Amino acid sequence: MDMSDVAARGLVLLGCGKMGSAMLAGWLADGLPATSVWVIDPHPSDWVQAQGLHLNAPLPADPAIVLIAVKPQMMGDALPALRALGTGATLFISVAAGTPLARFEEAFGPRTPVVRAMPNTPAAIGQGITALVGNSRVGPDQMALAQALLGAVGQTVLLETEAQMDAVTAVSGSGPAYVFHLIETLAAAGTAQGLPDAIALQLAQATVAGAGALAQQADENPAQLRVNVTSPGGTTQAALAVLMDPDTGFPALLTRAVAAAADRSRELANG
Ligand SMILES: NC(=O)c1ccc[n+]([C@@H]2O[C@H](COP(=O)([O-])OP(=O)(O)OC[C@H]3O[C@@H](n4cnc5c(N)ncnc54)[C@H](OP(=O)(O)O)[C@@H]3O)[C@@H](O)[C@H]2O)c1
Repeated sequence: MDMSDVAARGLVLLGCGKMGSAMLAGWLADGLPATSVWVIDPHPSDWVQAQGLHLNAPLPADPAIVLIAVKPQMMGDALPALRALGTGATLFISVAAGTPLARFEEAFGPRTPVVRAMPNTPAAIGQGITALVGNSRVGPDQMALAQALLGAVGQTVLLETEAQMDAVTAVSGSGPAYVFHLIETLAAAGTAQGLPDAIALQLAQATVAGAGALAQQADENPAQLRVNVTSPGGTTQAALAVLMDPDTGFPALLTRAVAAAADRSRELANG
């Protein structure tokens, strides 16, 4: 199963809001014909309506892919429309946060191959990262296809177990909010040191974006990059002495923050 099967047999997108539209834009830009796409959404945006795809139309009998991108709380209302496609021949992919594979196996039958994927918000600009895990029915070709489809909005990584999804949620799923808060607080600290608000914010935003890009592209690991810019007795070292304090610095803080998010993810999964 590959992208040519998707073009030939069709892709059904259930829920076309922020995440669904970001993925759809990527697939169309990569050459998937709009006529191979069926979108189900009660209030499609003007952009979706203008794409020339099948909108709220009768579904194909044997689509290659059904991609589920509705909010987890809408799942009960949304899934029955797809029950007839649980034949085993269609690969289901869900990006709904917190909805376990078992929920889809219940809805579509145990023969159904299902991939659960966790993207994050930078997907909106094609710079997301998505972790994927499949049930036992998903073959290597199908997983490769799921990765290619999510690759339209950024990087992808494969997990070994579904239980790892709670940690992914806590690191990359919720992580953009931690970085936004880092930008906010770095800017506020700059203002406290005498900078105008707008300049402090611009400095903080560009520093996080630039350092992030450098950390991705450089051959050195982040620890080495840090050492490279820290002269003994200099300004960076003065700040890092505060940030690397084992009791009050980033290590303790981020360990607690990520653990709190992972714990909450497990709680939500258990109802
Ligand atoms: N946004 C992200 O960065 C992100 C990251 C990770 C995971 N996710 C997951 O992606 C999923 C979608 O999130 P989102 O941010 O894209 O939300 P969203 O913008 O609200 O999109 C959901 C879409 O589904 C539509 N919908 C509601 N009920 C439906 C039904 N019964 N059948 C078909 N479509 C229905 C909604 O229409 P109405 O607006 O008219 O209700 C809306 O257009 C969620 O499960 C979320 O956990 C999102």
